[in-house]
Amino acid sequence: MENRSQWGTRLGFLLAAMGSAIGLGNIWRFPAVAYENGGGAFFIPYLFALITAGIPMLIMEYTIGHKYRSSAPRSFKRISSGMEWIGWWQVAISFVISTYYPVIIAWSLMYTYFSFSQGWGTETSQFFFQDFLDASDAGVFGEIVPNVLIPIAIVWIIALFILFRGVKNGIELANRIFIPLLIISFLLIVIRAVTLPGALTGLNAFFAPDWSSIANGSVWVAAYGQIFFSLSIAFAIMITFSSYLPKDADITNNAFITGFANSSFELIAGIGVFAALGFMANQTAQPVSEVVSDGIALAFVVFPQIINQMPAPALFGVLFFSSLVLAGFSSMVSISETYIAALQEKFSLSRRASVAIGGGVAAIFSLFFANQGGIYLLDTVDYFINNYGVALVGLVEIVAISWFAKEINHLYEHANGVSDIQLGEWWKFSLRVITPIVLGYMMLQNLRYDMTQNYSNYPSEFLFNFGWMVALGAMAFGAFITIRKWPNDEK
Ligand code: PHE
Repeated sequence: MENRSQWGTRLGFLLAAMGSAIGLGNIWRFPAVAYENGGGAFFIPYLFALITAGIPMLIMEYTIGHKYRSSAPRSFKRISSGMEWIGWWQVAISFVISTYYPVIIAWSLMYTYFSFSQGWGTETSQFFFQDFLDASDAGVFGEIVPNVLIPIAIVWIIALFILFRGVKNGIELANRIFIPLLIISFLLIVIRAVTLPGALTGLNAFFAPDWSSIANGSVWVAAYGQIFFSLSIAFAIMITFSSYLPKDADITNNAFITGFANSSFELIAGIGVFAALGFMANQTAQPVSEVVSDGIALAFVVFPQIINQMPAPALFGVLFFSSLVLAGFSSMVSISETYIAALQEKFSLSRRASVAIGGGVAAIFSLFFANQGGIYLLDTVDYFINNYGVALVGLVEIVAISWFAKEINHLYEHANGVSDIQLGEWWKFSLRVITPIVLGYMMLQNLRYDMTQNYSNYPSEFLFNFGWMVALGAMAFGAFITIRKWPNDEK
């Protein structure tokens, strides 16, 4: 019998799952997505997506991990040997993400440091792109940027240390520290933001409902996309994490708690971000619509400007950027655990060897983002791996399990056997019908878009090499490692 790692407590598991779910997506993706897709009216498609896709798939992944007590590849293999590749494909996607996600944590770490003296000055865009990143053009890699290289190395040293210590003494303990700290520092910023002059203008802009948006298909796609990304579904993470649960753990309940905690954090982030944007609009006498942004620009260009204008800028700068660091770290650790667990099982490695090999190789790849073209590389890999990696493998996973295998019924019974809240027919219907339709539609929309124009106007060759090839490469890797026979393969 294999001696499988286990969480120390149920709370430990929940904190780790929330730590994975609550990431940069909650802070810098959700607010803008909600604003652009109907404001207050967006909550209808969003809640619908949570109930018909997010929580059902989370329950499905928790049940798979709990029932088969394995990382994603071996869990899928135990469902049906023809499905092992789906697990490896997910693991490969997670590996790719784990090479660039730490880069953003590294920038945030540097910005936490700059916060003490608002080292970014008043021209925050010029500072970020030129002074800090020394950015060139998309597709031109130029030279190594030590400002970025050194913090990436620091982030990896900390992450590898946590991962070396194992599930209970590493991942669980780190989340027990990170998540409460994150919640406290983030709440302090939100409370400060909503009490700044102009905050109300921002909140009005955020919540103002555009009811006509509900009739728009792309708004629904945006809601489902946000829910999937935000809940870390189809990244192999939730299967891996639930494989460390004790045999008698409740599944449905845990999935509801994770789902609602994650969405609550998103809502609070939306309030904080828009209150801050309202303040900024107020200070600069512009409408809120002029200052809205998301992602990297929101965090590293707009927020430094907001912080410059705030009373006690050093304090709030440190709180904001350390929130990004904390939110990022727990997601990064979760995503690395997917391949660490998978390698360990497939090649009968010790945990330490698996962390050293898997984490070590990912860390080396990470350093490639520390050049002058790193930001464009990151942006491209992120866009393609999400749209043609995570979303596609999610579709394949759900179709394989709910259409082609009787597995859905077994999972249904397994979950109901251990959980208080009993699943009903809505669960199977969501997985068999609603989720595949929305994900399939999303795929076609994305393809139509990317076939007719170059993402961000980047050069075609660059997009081919680092977008399409990376996304397809993850799939090919999944197939390769499955088809080849390895000495330790179980019969
Ligand atoms: N749920 C995460 C987020 O919102 C997504 C993610 C998980 C990204 C793990 C990377 C690693 O940011």
